[in-house]
Amino acid sequence: MIYTLTLNPAIDYHAVTELVEEGRTNRTKEEYLQPGGKGLNVAAVLAGLGDPVTAIALTAGPTGEILKSLLEREAVSCDFIELESGFTRINVKLHQAGTGIMTELNGSGIRLNEELIGEIRERLGKIGKDDTLVLSGSLPAGSTPDLYRQLMESTGAGKVVVDASGAALLEALEGKPYLIKPNRDELLDLMTQSGEQELIEAAGSGDAEALEKGAAWLQQRGAENVLVSMGGDGAFLLSADGKVSRMEAPEGDLIDAVGAGDSMVAGFLHQAGQDTDPEKVLAFAVAAGSATAFSMGLAKPRMIHQLYDEVRKQK
Ligand SMILES: Nc1ncnc2c1ncn2[C@@H]1O[C@H](COP(=O)(O)OP(=O)(O)OP(=O)(O)O)[C@@H](O)[C@H]1O
Ligand SMILES: [Mg+2]
Repeated sequence: MIYTLTLNPAIDYHAVTELVEEGRTNRTKEEYLQPGGKGLNVAAVLAGLGDPVTAIALTAGPTGEILKSLLEREAVSCDFIELESGFTRINVKLHQAGTGIMTELNGSGIRLNEELIGEIRERLGKIGKDDTLVLSGSLPAGSTPDLYRQLMESTGAGKVVVDASGAALLEALEGKPYLIKPNRDELLDLMTQSGEQELIEAAGSGDAEALEKGAAWLQQRGAENVLVSMGGDGAFLLSADGKVSRMEAPEGDLIDAVGAGDSMVAGFLHQAGQDTDPEKVLAFAVAAGSATAFSMGLAKPRMIHQLYDEVRKQK
């Protein structure tokens, strides 16, 4: 079983409007609700691919109930940890009609405390060694940057994936994650802040060789597999055996790349469950990321399989 943890999920309220005027009553042309949260995205794509997955999520208040009903609609199996106070946040996504421009107003959401962290640790402790746990997303208010590392200490999961940035990711490396998936900017930021002259200089160039140096540094610090995503430029994988594979993103029309990284994590885990060849695992991960970039919402299995046949190695 694959478990994903979403500490601070959201209801994403999408509204399509004409230009928004400050200080005036503005009206929407169209609106819809979607569950929001990186762990929920990973779980939804895995569930679509037919993998056994459970999304663990923290919910609170009346908006927590709405989130649950939205998730039921998506047929994702969930395990909720309910908070006694506060409410699940609402993230407002304002789409300017016909322009592709989106303005976001994201809620701060729930606040963690020691008791709650204890409850989460206990829940993760029940996960077995044949299972995989995915920790993704930024940390909520009230947590310290070592939270993911602490959670890794508590879980019984045999493999842990960490998709986070900055200090949360660096700290988590001590727990020896099976997979990390920084995007290009997240990797360059880590290199710039590393305090190591060679990495800082390499980050300045930001070329392929520099990114490989950064990935090798993260692997030395504890990550088994380092998957670096580069948006429309595809991705590379530094696998546990020290080899680097590179894949181009397939051709297609970009619709919305939100959640592409989460879909990529799902694609990686799906293929790694049935294939040991790092190139094939990377190709499937890229296909899943691109399938999300080329669709409304998250990747559907049909498009992932179709794009998998089109993904090519980088020359
Ligand atoms: N414009 C695009 N065209 C084709 N494929 C894309 C595009 N954007 C993203 N992808 C695919 O999705 C993968 C992950 O994308 P990206 O590097 O943007 O992840 P991310 O920044 O972590 O995204 P997220 O918003 O989910 O955190 C890429 O490696 C690529 O395969
Ligand atoms: Mg990402």
